[in-house]
Amino acid sequence: MTGSSLSAAPRPVEVPARRPSGAAALAVALTLRTDLWAPLVEYRETERWSTLVDPADAAAVLDPALHAELAGAQVWLLSWLPGQGTDLHDHGTSAGAFAVARGTLTERVVAARSREAVRQTTTDLAVGRVRYFGEHHVHQVTNVLTEPAVSVHVYAPALRWMNTYRVEDGALVRTGTQRAGVDW
Ligand SMILES: [Fe+2]
Repeated sequence: MTGSSLSAAPRPVEVPARRPSGAAALAVALTLRTDLWAPLVEYRETERWSTLVDPADAAAVLDPALHAELAGAQVWLLSWLPGQGTDLHDHGTSAGAFAVARGTLTERVVAARSREAVRQTTTDLAVGRVRYFGEHHVHQVTNVLTEPAVSVHVYAPALRWMNTYRVEDGALVRTGTQRAGVDW
């Protein structure tokens, strides 16, 4: 091998330790196990429905030993009737990922940089799509279509609280905090 070919070789990609690749892998893997999640799903007209996934079921789908972040992870199954959605929120000190198992969800992401107006993007996520999020990811997830949706959410470490926000004059303004197990 010549020196020039060495220099032309692609550089190895440096992946930040906080990028929750294990959470994303587990979320997608679980969406493929319809036999595990479909019997659990319920729909509620009054509010979004959710339930914790048995850690043993999650471990059977993806060995947590493969990803250190999964040791303290928590997995939720959520359903979304048409029109149901979240406030704009972060995930406290948790990172993680979510994947769509049924239907389509629309994710609005608000990225805030100091001394700049926030940047907002909106993406439709169909079955099989996965999104990962770090501690500073602020998003709003809604089922804007006419069919029910189901999604799998992996939080690592477990979700303790979420801050809620609104966008005001181009800036993110925190509107409150919701505590896991208390406020939802
Ligand atoms: Fe979220």
